[in-house]
Amino acid sequence: SNRTPLMAGNWKMNLDWKQGLALVEELGDQLKSVDTDRVEVVVLPPFVDIRTVQTVVEADKLPIGYGSQDISAHESGAYTGEVSGAMLKALGATYTTVGHSERRQYHAETEEVTDAKVKASFDAGLTPILCVGEPLEERQAGKHVEYTLAQLEGGIASLSAEQAKQIVIAYEPVWAIGTGEVATPDDAQEVCAAIRDALRALHGDEVADAVRVLYGGSVKSSNVVELMGKEDVDGALIGGASLKAEEFARIAGFQS
Ligand code: G3H
Repeated sequence: SNRTPLMAGNWKMNLDWKQGLALVEELGDQLKSVDTDRVEVVVLPPFVDIRTVQTVVEADKLPIGYGSQDISAHESGAYTGEVSGAMLKALGATYTTVGHSERRQYHAETEEVTDAKVKASFDAGLTPILCVGEPLEERQAGKHVEYTLAQLEGGIASLSAEQAKQIVIAYEPVWAIGTGEVATPDDAQEVCAAIRDALRALHGDEVADAVRVLYGGSVKSSNVVELMGKEDVDGALIGGASLKAEEFARIAGFQS
């Protein structure tokens, strides 16, 4: 496909600003051996590290984009503890994660909230990385595609074609997150293709062919090449392995 692969590192609740600074500096060094015109590399640090990441990326002109792990559904005002899309945009962020399974599971994030956050991302000029994916029981019951598409549809049905074309979808089967148990390339392909079909049915060919669908769940340099060999897998959302600069750069350089 002519979609530029996207490798996004989700730091989750790891690394204070000094550790984050060290990681981004080292990642910048490691990426010198990666053709960053052919792959987009993004980090998703905790909110309090983003200002630091901005400073080093701009000062050293690093080929690294950045964004957040969450965004408020609200624009501004009396929402204690929340961070708005406009605040992130002002820090040069380009992406925001929406609906990660850990938010859905531990922070009671409903479909409604996730849909509102997708809209808030676009309103602020950020690209949402919408995370979807089934828990183990759904896979065992053979309902993984159905379950995942139900999560997807609410979030994308109300988008304009222009917005839909820009969204990034991350398919993350919950049972593969942080468990070391990666989905097989065929399992990843099955659901990523179903996601693209759903995009096609809702928004047409142009949108379906443009949207990047990522796989996430125990991605490492040792399994990324096989996953990326699948037609509908356009990149990865990487947790644990993105905390080590050398390993993350190796994942980003999967082509070589
Ligand atoms: O956002 C990243 C995913 O939840 C995957 O995490 O690579 O540590 O399994 P992991």
